[in-house]
Amino acid sequence: MRVTTDFLIIGSGIAGLSYALKVADRGTVSLVTKRDIDVSATQLAQGGIATVFSDKDSFSSHAEDTMVAGAQLSNPEIVDLVVEVGPEAIDDLINWGVKFSRNEDNQYDLTREGGHSHRRILHAKDATGREIERALVEAALKHPNITLYQDHIAVDLITESKVLHKKLTKDRCLGAYILDKKNNEVVAFGAQFTILATGGAGKVYFFTCNPDIATGDGIAIGWRAGATVANMEFMQFHPTTLYHPKAKSFLISEAVRGEGGILRRGDDYAFMPDYHELKDLAPRDIVARAIDNEMKKSGADCVFLDITHKGADFIKHHFPMIYETCLGFGIDMTREPIPVVPATHYLCGGLSVDKNGETSIDNLFAIGEVACTGLHGANRLASNSLLEGVVFAKIAAAVSLSRLGEQLPPNPAIPPWDCGKATNSDEEVIVAHNWDEIRRCMWNYVGIVRSDKRLERAMSRIMLIQEEIDEYYWDFLITSDLIELRNITTVARLIVQSALSRHESRGLHYTIDYPDRDDQNFHRDTIIPGARYSGKG
Ligand code: SIN
Repeated sequence: MRVTTDFLIIGSGIAGLSYALKVADRGTVSLVTKRDIDVSATQLAQGGIATVFSDKDSFSSHAEDTMVAGAQLSNPEIVDLVVEVGPEAIDDLINWGVKFSRNEDNQYDLTREGGHSHRRILHAKDATGREIERALVEAALKHPNITLYQDHIAVDLITESKVLHKKLTKDRCLGAYILDKKNNEVVAFGAQFTILATGGAGKVYFFTCNPDIATGDGIAIGWRAGATVANMEFMQFHPTTLYHPKAKSFLISEAVRGEGGILRRGDDYAFMPDYHELKDLAPRDIVARAIDNEMKKSGADCVFLDITHKGADFIKHHFPMIYETCLGFGIDMTREPIPVVPATHYLCGGLSVDKNGETSIDNLFAIGEVACTGLHGANRLASNSLLEGVVFAKIAAAVSLSRLGEQLPPNPAIPPWDCGKATNSDEEVIVAHNWDEIRRCMWNYVGIVRSDKRLERAMSRIMLIQEEIDEYYWDFLITSDLIELRNITTVARLIVQSALSRHESRGLHYTIDYPDRDDQNFHRDTIIPGARYSGKG
């Protein structure tokens, strides 16, 4: 089967949906998503979306906070761009029907999170992402030009060099091969513009507050097709996820600390003043490392987040979803502190894009967490991710629309998917085992505190697994699990490779072998050129 479309969008979180809504009046949109449309990291976002909405705040202050959190590695031009386009992009969300919480004066209620010097976080109680996703999904489903493909997972990109079997100085994306999971059939999607909005890669690690879909698909398929990636060593660990055997690292929003929550050890000692002048509201890398250190020193399984002093009414009003979820696990946060541990949350690196959101391959855009735009540097400021997603969707949509009428050379014919001699696998256990092994290896050796020895150990394990998967991939018919395993392995390798090449500690990359920041040698992005992998198809 084959589909031809103007815009092929892979991913249905804030970035993919906003891009779709921006372009749909002007062309046909195929919106591809691996599960149901509303299964995305956006859906789980709690805290909110940062932007300058108050007279007391300023663009320069938001930009400065972003640079400080990013350990001065962010690109100042991109920081200014995102911060300044932010309020207009938020207006788009409001026009699409997103309802942010308001205060008693009917003004937007602005909350605060770590690293922000002003109240500037728009939110919908403590379930901001759910509200954004609801409104955007509703708007997208109503649009006649948007065709939705649920339960479809991208296998690989189709590029001009791949179709013509020749090396080109500048490659062009022509679409993607997509597995229709229900019919077990690979469909060739030909498109003028391909937009990767596939989100992050938290599932590369054993403990994560990301949804199960966060397997780094866009990064892996983009890199295999030849797109450059950047800053993959900067994986953000959220300091506070619920510690409970059945909670699957449920996020306890940073807004809880923004509203006065205090981190304590088991003996009640509030330890954050020992680590940073901003105490519990220090940037995330510092808080996560402090918790890791306290847990390692005492051998405790977790620390505690205490907001009981704010009283039951305040807590239930501000954090209804967190309150109910904790209560479901037997923890009443109005009366007792919440047991918390860090878990992977957000990848600051990804496919390297220019200020239009375009990758090093023409007509291939990457927006949202899949991309490395230069905004986050070595560590993302809280609530800047939804902002980056919606701002870059707006910019990338405007750029692609401006090119829609251009006379482009005709696309070469796209061959149908060729599965070669592959047969059905009777060894699914290999896939399950390797999933587990990669994730444990990354958690144990490539975590909050790193060393060369641990990274090298991780790399040798990953390369062995990669070889095994490559072999398996050629011999057996592809499944969704195999595609995701191949992707998490690729992303794991890119993370370790990047971490091994940064001989300093900065932001989210902390190594005991090079504990200091080295501006002279490492004030630069970590770049890995694309692979030009020749896969099936
Ligand atoms: C949170 O609510 O703590 C997450 C917000 C973010 O990661 O930006």
